[in-house]
Amino acid sequence: MSEFQKTEQKYAEWEAPKDNLRKPIVLKEQGTRLYEPSPAIREICKTGVVFENQITKDTKVLLIGDGQGMDTQQFLQMGVDPINIASINYEQSEVDQANQGILQDTGVLMKQGDATDFESLKNAGIKENSQEIVTLMHILEVPSIKDEIEKKLIINIAKILKQNGELLVTQYKHKFTENERDLQKQIGIEEITAENLQKQYGENWKEKFKEENGLGWEVGIRYGEISNIRSKEALLTLFNPYFDIKFEENESEYILKMKKK
Ligand SMILES: C[S@@+](CC[C@H](N)C(=O)[O-])C[C@H]1O[C@@H](n2cnc3c(N)ncnc32)[C@H](O)[C@@H]1O
Repeated sequence: MSEFQKTEQKYAEWEAPKDNLRKPIVLKEQGTRLYEPSPAIREICKTGVVFENQITKDTKVLLIGDGQGMDTQQFLQMGVDPINIASINYEQSEVDQANQGILQDTGVLMKQGDATDFESLKNAGIKENSQEIVTLMHILEVPSIKDEIEKKLIINIAKILKQNGELLVTQYKHKFTENERDLQKQIGIEEITAENLQKQYGENWKEKFKEENGLGWEVGIRYGEISNIRSKEALLTLFNPYFDIKFEENESEYILKMKKK
């Protein structure tokens, strides 16, 4: 049995503890880039290559968690036929904003879906062995994507990619600090509001927030301060079983350009 099959079997047998299940109500978990396409995608826009294959109008691309659609635009600019672009995002509010905003009249429809759940991907029309490029730009920072859930996410991506399919991942290198709230605001990382936390956790939201994130809520706190940040080594360990990796970094982010093994 290959490593891939072994891990797949393990996850097929695994059941999340009930209180750990992601809630069906879709709530804000992370802020998103509102104003700028990702610098990593902008570079790919120039070269037309993620790992080694030239992007063409026929390339099948799936964007996971493309906030309000900024990076989808970049693939359209590269000439990818909208019919070949799929986009799924967990936050229904962002899906609505993207479809009524940046993606309106582009021919691309963002759909609500949870990439950590294969059934949810299938319901959004994403089939096994169907994609040539998948992007995962600043999704790994989402606090709930850790441990078993992050592994399921990677396995799902490996499953939906075709043979030699390519994956582009970015992750910030550091959590933001409270002194960087203006910077977070500038790049579109949203504030964590008491209202959202109340909806998410109910009555004891302050205690639950602290329990989950290790720091107390205060007015003005933003999602960048509770990001789940992995080291370079942890990222390599996570993706290495399934992908050949070209590892790059700039001042603020790690960039992994990968090909399915
Ligand atoms: C920090 S934002 C990043 C947005 C954008 N890609 C960027 O680089 O700015 C995280 C995004 O991931 C989405 N997301 C979180 N969990 C997800 C999941 N399980 N499946 C799909 N999208 C998810 C959220 O809806 C949100 O749009």
